[in-house]
Amino acid sequence: MKLWGGRFTKETNQLVHNFNESLSFDQRFYKQDITGSIAHVTMLAKQGILTNEDRDAIIVGLKSIEADITNGTLEFDLQYEDIHSFVEANLIERIGEAGKRLHTGRSRNDQVALDMKLYTRDEVQAVDELLVTLLKVVLRLMEENTETFMPGFTHLQKAQPITAAHHLGAYFEMFKRDRSRLHDIYERMNYCPLGAGALAGTTYPLDRDYSAQLLGFYGPTLNSIDSVADRDYLLEFLSALSIIMMHLSRFSEEIILWNSNEYRFIELDDAYSTGSSIMPQKKNPDIAELVRGKTGRVYGALTSLLTTMKGLPLAYNKDMQEDKELTFDAIDTAKGCIALFTGMINTMTFLKDNMEASAKNGFTNATDAADYLVKHGVPFRDAHGIVGQLVLFCIEKNIALDDMTLEEFKAISPVFEEDIYEAISLKTCVEKRLTIGAPSTTSMSAVIAKEKEYLGL
Ligand code: ARG
Repeated sequence: MKLWGGRFTKETNQLVHNFNESLSFDQRFYKQDITGSIAHVTMLAKQGILTNEDRDAIIVGLKSIEADITNGTLEFDLQYEDIHSFVEANLIERIGEAGKRLHTGRSRNDQVALDMKLYTRDEVQAVDELLVTLLKVVLRLMEENTETFMPGFTHLQKAQPITAAHHLGAYFEMFKRDRSRLHDIYERMNYCPLGAGALAGTTYPLDRDYSAQLLGFYGPTLNSIDSVADRDYLLEFLSALSIIMMHLSRFSEEIILWNSNEYRFIELDDAYSTGSSIMPQKKNPDIAELVRGKTGRVYGALTSLLTTMKGLPLAYNKDMQEDKELTFDAIDTAKGCIALFTGMINTMTFLKDNMEASAKNGFTNATDAADYLVKHGVPFRDAHGIVGQLVLFCIEKNIALDDMTLEEFKAISPVFEEDIYEAISLKTCVEKRLTIGAPSTTSMSAVIAKEKEYLGL
């Protein structure tokens, strides 16, 4: 059954049907389609546009369709164009005449706009919940590693000593911002397009406030053209998902590096690693690599929808049907990646000795050696030059700053005294960094307390 056969004299070409149909993928929101229809007829009856008997018959019919799809007794027949036609045809089959009144005062344009919004609104929350779980794991790792020293990097060169808690805390902030973006999207998108009709509203006395309220929206959208033409919330969601993936990808890249033979900062759990078919010694970080790889796919969805939307005249155009497959794929991909990534970091082990040893070589305390001189009256620019000479001396002898004798220090600058060793020890370098946001255990404890509060722990 078609929703629009009346003015046609020929059957649709089968290839045209196949090209045009969306049931193969919009079946995903059959529940939202039915929920929207129930709200619509409830409103129609309240307004006296539909009798209470018809309303009740339609609701019973729709609920039985939903139950049958869910338990698998009703299968999607791809000869229907989309989920809207499929449900409506089934309803008419089940309840007869009353079913034909369902679509009163509605177009598939506002219907699909509603379905996609209802579906996305749930997914925004589902992604948010996955991020909360991830944040809890990151916070646990932070709490356990406030004294796990490691080098902090700039340009992937060892720069200054930090702790694993401090490094992980950077990701905590990123995922927190991701949640706040999702929150913004929810706030902006939560207005109901139902009642916009094809584009110009309807002549029926619909109560759009009431429909919006029934469906948990803040209110109705305020322009019927925009209501059916707007896909901004999908672009925003795809953008938020892209940023989440970018964060996961950066974190994955670090895990891949840390897991390499050269770094040996972490050990991934066997349950989250894979082997090689030829090299028996291999234990590969495939999950991290796949998360990094799948990031491209989510960016692709964003670029694709931006491109689809860019030349569209108002209001609805069939091009917009393309929003679905790529949004669904991006949502599935991002959700899978967040969940797998969470499991991977929840089970990995920090090889603390290796991390500390790495922080000890590579002159991560050079800035602190310069600061020592400054505290003894040497201008910073001169101190920088002096420590540069120390580093050169150490590179030649293949030793760390801490390994130099006091005589060797003094030969380069007489300002150095015995307390230089204490001043440039790893512990001092970290613990003296006391400002909020810095790596000392004091600062980190304050931050961890705030993050706990943020998570409601
Ligand atoms: N399958 C369509 C979509 O996803 C539903 C809306 C169809 N509206 C129309 N006027 N053909 O966009």
